[in-house]
Amino acid sequence: MSILIKNGRIITADSDQVADIFIEGEKIKTIGKNLSRQADETIDASGKLVFPGGIDPHVHLDMPFMGTYSSDNYETGTRAALFGGTTMVIDFILQKQGNSLQAALNEWRSRSNGNCVGDYSFHMAVTDFNEGTKKEIKHFVEEEGITSFKTFMAYKGALMIDDRQMVGLMEEVKKQGGLVTVHATNGDMIDYLVSKHREEGKLSPLYHYLSQPEVTEAEASERFADMANYTGCPGYIVHLTCEGALNAVRNATRRNQNVLVETCIQYLVIDASLYERVDGAKWVMSPPLREKKDQQTLWAGINQGIVKVVATDHCPFKWQQKLMGKDDFSKIPNGHPAIENRMELLFSEGVYNGRISLNKYVEVACTNPAKIFGMFPRKGTIGIDSDADIVIFDPNEKHSISASSHHMNVDYSAYEGWELTGKVKTVLLRGRVAIDNNVCKLEKGYGQFIKRNKVNGMI
Ligand code: URP
Ligand code: ZN
Ligand code: ZN
Repeated sequence: MSILIKNGRIITADSDQVADIFIEGEKIKTIGKNLSRQADETIDASGKLVFPGGIDPHVHLDMPFMGTYSSDNYETGTRAALFGGTTMVIDFILQKQGNSLQAALNEWRSRSNGNCVGDYSFHMAVTDFNEGTKKEIKHFVEEEGITSFKTFMAYKGALMIDDRQMVGLMEEVKKQGGLVTVHATNGDMIDYLVSKHREEGKLSPLYHYLSQPEVTEAEASERFADMANYTGCPGYIVHLTCEGALNAVRNATRRNQNVLVETCIQYLVIDASLYERVDGAKWVMSPPLREKKDQQTLWAGINQGIVKVVATDHCPFKWQQKLMGKDDFSKIPNGHPAIENRMELLFSEGVYNGRISLNKYVEVACTNPAKIFGMFPRKGTIGIDSDADIVIFDPNEKHSISASSHHMNVDYSAYEGWELTGKVKTVLLRGRVAIDNNVCKLEKGYGQFIKRNKVNGMI
């Protein structure tokens, strides 16, 4: 099967040219002006932008969490991602404390295998680092192609590890050629504040926000950066939200350290005022939404090259699930749906509104995730022999977001009624048309598990 994409404006992280792309099988074979290749299918991309497929390196599909499961499974989640121009996601396996990493991988495979429409990989969340776990790290890096290890400094009593485990894990992961990623908030402080608010009868979603003040994230980010610096392990902070935490990373750069930072689309475009609404539970996530000044810091961080990735932390729960916490904010399952919205929201709010360039857009949404997590140049760019993961995008089309038209398995949208400029028109995944005219052409099972290479924190 061959496809010729004609006359699109091809944007990569460092180039911008009008040209044709010839695809054969799963790969890009030729890029050039006025290609005269015969193809089985020709797509006219005149007047359109052509991006590499988006990579969302932070999603939670079918995940057991807070007494329920996130509502998108591997089929609905990866399909919704494709509708939004994201051709690959990295999901999280959670080790059960007392069990092995391998047992967790087996459990996650039983839900994901054969069910994905789009491509995927896993991070391994280490929630119990001990002599047994330590021995498993090498196997994950060398054999499984899982080279990033997630840690939680929060969720005390459930997922959190202490600093002793963190340092031990970092030493081993560095030795084996991997990367440690972190949910960096101070779990003890948050635990204290949650208890205090509950004892005082302060139970509404607003107190979720007030139980995780900026200092809890700034403190943990600095501590994580210090431990990464001490051990020499590459470190990546997931879903960074605020000025204090970003300044902790900026401080680390003063001693020549490179702490990799991800933010998520929600922290760039919506703020904590939503917690005062009666349906505030829709935006209960950890860390919580912050202030307008934090949004400005994050956009600046992107342009300064400190914030390297814009992900989603997609972790959807239906309204009925959110109601588990109707009388107590600490029981609201944490997370919100965005896997389908990230690329279009970031384009509209970022590129269309003049906050970031087109190249920066591709860098943070496609290329840097591939580079950081060991998939570049197979993924994350438009180049010869790269996977033909391609998004054809109309930069002028206006549309609005609604739960009535989205494809995520959740009965509300966190962005209901938002008017956007710029729309995904056609998506290719490994040389096959995945989305065309708002129809998905691929079946579940097409999505492949992508083994990742060793990483060193340099991009
Ligand atoms: O609220 C969130 N973020 N839910 C998913 C779990 C996590 O902390 O990433
Ligand atoms: Zn988290
Ligand atoms: Zn997450």
